[in-house]
Amino acid sequence: MFRHDIIIVGGGLAGLRAALAIRGADVAVISRVHPLRSHSVAAQGGINAALAKNDRWEDHAFDTIKGSDYLADQDAVEVLCQDAPARVIEMERWGALFSRTDEGMIAQRPFGGAGYPRTAYAEDRTGHALLHTMYEQALKNGIKFYEEWLVTRLVVKTPYLNTGTNNGRCSGVVGYNIANGRIEGFLAKAVIFATGGYGRIYRRSTNSIINTGFGCAVAYRSGVALSDMEFVQFHPTTLYGTNILITEGARGEGGLLKNKHGERFMARYSPHLLDLAPRDIVARAIQTEINEGRGFEGGYVHLELMHIGGRKIKERLPGIRQIAMDFANIDPIEEPIPIQPAQHYSMGGIASNKNCETSLSGFYVCGECSCLSVHGANRLGGNSLLETIVFGKLAGENAAMFANGIGFEAADIMEKAVHGELQRVSALLGKNEGEAFFKIRDELKEIMDEKVGIFRDEENLKAALGKIRELKMRYGSVYVRNKGTVFNQELVNAIELEGMLDIAEVICIGAIERKESRGSHFRLDYPARDDANWLRHTLVTFAPEGLRVEYKPVNITMYPPKPREY
Ligand code: FUM
Repeated sequence: MFRHDIIIVGGGLAGLRAALAIRGADVAVISRVHPLRSHSVAAQGGINAALAKNDRWEDHAFDTIKGSDYLADQDAVEVLCQDAPARVIEMERWGALFSRTDEGMIAQRPFGGAGYPRTAYAEDRTGHALLHTMYEQALKNGIKFYEEWLVTRLVVKTPYLNTGTNNGRCSGVVGYNIANGRIEGFLAKAVIFATGGYGRIYRRSTNSIINTGFGCAVAYRSGVALSDMEFVQFHPTTLYGTNILITEGARGEGGLLKNKHGERFMARYSPHLLDLAPRDIVARAIQTEINEGRGFEGGYVHLELMHIGGRKIKERLPGIRQIAMDFANIDPIEEPIPIQPAQHYSMGGIASNKNCETSLSGFYVCGECSCLSVHGANRLGGNSLLETIVFGKLAGENAAMFANGIGFEAADIMEKAVHGELQRVSALLGKNEGEAFFKIRDELKEIMDEKVGIFRDEENLKAALGKIRELKMRYGSVYVRNKGTVFNQELVNAIELEGMLDIAEVICIGAIERKESRGSHFRLDYPARDDANWLRHTLVTFAPEGLRVEYKPVNITMYPPKPREY
């Protein structure tokens, strides 16, 4: 058994920033992959902060809240936007190679839904620049890493009693060592989850294949509520065919969306912001063009960059040029890029307050796996990287304060938890026949794409929920053919699938219940936003006797809800 004062699960930007915030305690990071392969590395377009003389954090906050369709908790948004400049400058001082203006300042570009060009960037590889910088700092500070471990369980005294009060206490985690197949307990005074999103429950997604949402599922199975899971972000511009991200920065640099008639269709959907409207609006517009026959055969539209010129494309968008050339055989200097919307981000996640605390004492969350909520019903591009470093820092500081001066829980709870995980793995490995995990996984992805996508209605959502419940039954017969202990990816994927099914079920339930359209959740049968009944967060809690759906009010401070026009 391992023992650390604070265990952080997740080696991306949020997890590493949390680790760097912890002083005077023994901290370790457990990561599913080498930290530099975490999904943060894939972020392209940039990170928002009101750095310029003419910009204000209050304006950033307003844009974020309006972008969220007024579902964001405004007290949390204030923290995000007020702290943004300090955190970005800190990354610069630590060595992040931001692109520069002619005057030598950090360069910033326009992004969707923003009233000011406040997205700081490092070409179109901003996540790469930030993650490498953060990892260097972690090495410099001697942070202990456990790489290539899958955390499968939270160790909790009195689980399932977490009904908004701190009835339980988190005492550590159980992990499966992917390299050698061993299951070990990690005793801790406090645990921070920074485990990322769940995009891979969809077939069309910009997410890395590690983004199965397993951290959210582990928390959920311990009785910690998931919040606002029905709000799934679809990025407007992903490469047709592979769904690799084509950054919003391309439109920030002047890229134009056109349908098969060469028409700049965004004028119909967002007369003022056009191609730089918020993502939910642009994604719906593109999908409408495709659905109504104005897209190209197969289901895509064009993103044109040719008029920007080769020099600017090479200087500011070299990554997406390379992606288009490698994966579509298209050079955007010469030809338009075929794009279509695809799942990109999870606004929902593990319910927490603006201090990153959950209902479970000693259990903290930050980054995409959390729902604080700063993004509400629709996140603005550039606010995700920002969230990781602002709330990563807070999660680390608050967990350290919690752990200070308290002891470890008795090790017998840990033994029981490790035993439970050994049984789970033995059950999967012990069967020699049944169903292969990937059949269930692929059917799940198909149904999520088809029926829980950009446009939704009751009939399709209910059909999806029925199918997911059938898949959950079938999961009981899953068996694993590879019985090996060394890098048994089939076993890891089979374990994660159980969590993916839980997450999909929670998304569907939230989406069926929410009888309105808000941000990314668009109901064809309820096309209007309904503040009178639905200006509230969804909370879904697991309990062995059946899940529970509850609601809590949105924190409104400075900006009363208004119609959202762009
Ligand atoms: O389009 C992008 O570069 C994505 C940015 C984001 O999701 O924040």
